[in-house]
Amino acid sequence: MPGLGTSPALTVALVIALQLVALQPTVLHCAKTFYMHWNTTNSIFRIDNTDHIIDVNKGNAQFEYDQVHIICPVYEPGTFDNETEKYIIYNVSKVEYETCRITNHDPRIIAICDKPNKLMFFTITFRPFTPQPGGLEFLPGNDYYFISTSSKDDLHRRIGGRCTTDNMKVVFKVCCADDQQQQQQQHHGHLPSNVAGLVGCTATTTTTTSTSKPTKKTKEYDKHPNEVVKNEELTYNNAAS
Ligand SMILES: *[C@@H]1O[C@H](CO)[C@@H](O)[C@H](O)[C@H]1NC(C)=O
Ligand SMILES: *[C@@H]1O[C@H](CO)[C@@H](O)[C@H](O)[C@H]1NC(C)=O
Ligand SMILES: *[C@@H]1O[C@H](CO)[C@@H](O)[C@H](O)[C@H]1NC(C)=O
Repeated sequence: MPGLGTSPALTVALVIALQLVALQPTVLHCAKTFYMHWNTTNSIFRIDNTDHIIDVNKGNAQFEYDQVHIICPVYEPGTFDNETEKYIIYNVSKVEYETCRITNHDPRIIAICDKPNKLMFFTITFRPFTPQPGGLEFLPGNDYYFISTSSKDDLHRRIGGRCTTDNMKVVFKVCCADDQQQQQQQHHGHLPSNVAGLVGCTATTTTTTSTSKPTKKTKEYDKHPNEVVKNEELTYNNAAS
């Protein structure tokens, strides 16, 4: 009887089968993509819930970072300007978030939604490093506060506005503080490298091996800079047709 080990085809099949089994748990570690419509009718901004407090990077494999697409309000052609919402969204401190008063003289702008007839969105990747000086960095264990104090009549106002009247504010809680991270790693064990992208991640990010250091990921930076990476302007007509 031919030994099991003598059939290369069988060996290959076995190896593949074993790898498939090994891959299964990584489904849970994929980076997630959120779509956030920044307008007053979105229920996440309702004051009676906590949907505007968002956990990101939770349970992700190393070097897998969640993304959010912030989608500006968009209206059909012919909509009166006075019936549209426009926003500037700022990164602010916790106190500024809580009071809807931006006291920083040079607040960091996250998005400018001032073209209500164009479909515009701004993409943010929650990674802890950034290629550009002064770029957005999202450190594990920290909270990031985005608000818009624009009002119906004043896009540029820094106090009150729809932050106060319509609760236009979100918090991103970036997973995880050091101690949590350690627990998480112990709990999940070592992950096979370079696989999450193969197993049904809607992956927006390219999976990288868990041995590479952030400092080596220059190519990744280019593809997914931490900055608002997309500021796509499609005319409403194009989007609708
Ligand atoms: C507002 O957000 C909702 C999602 O909550 C979306 O369906 C709607 O199209 C948005 N409205 C505008 C004007 O962009
Ligand atoms: C907006 O302006 C148009 C024309 O200028 C007017 O007919 C309409 O009533 C206004 N809408 C609101 C909400 O003020
Ligand atoms: C966001 O705002 C907070 C509070 O002012 C600040 O500590 C943090 O550095 C800001 N992030 C960026 C990328 O500007």
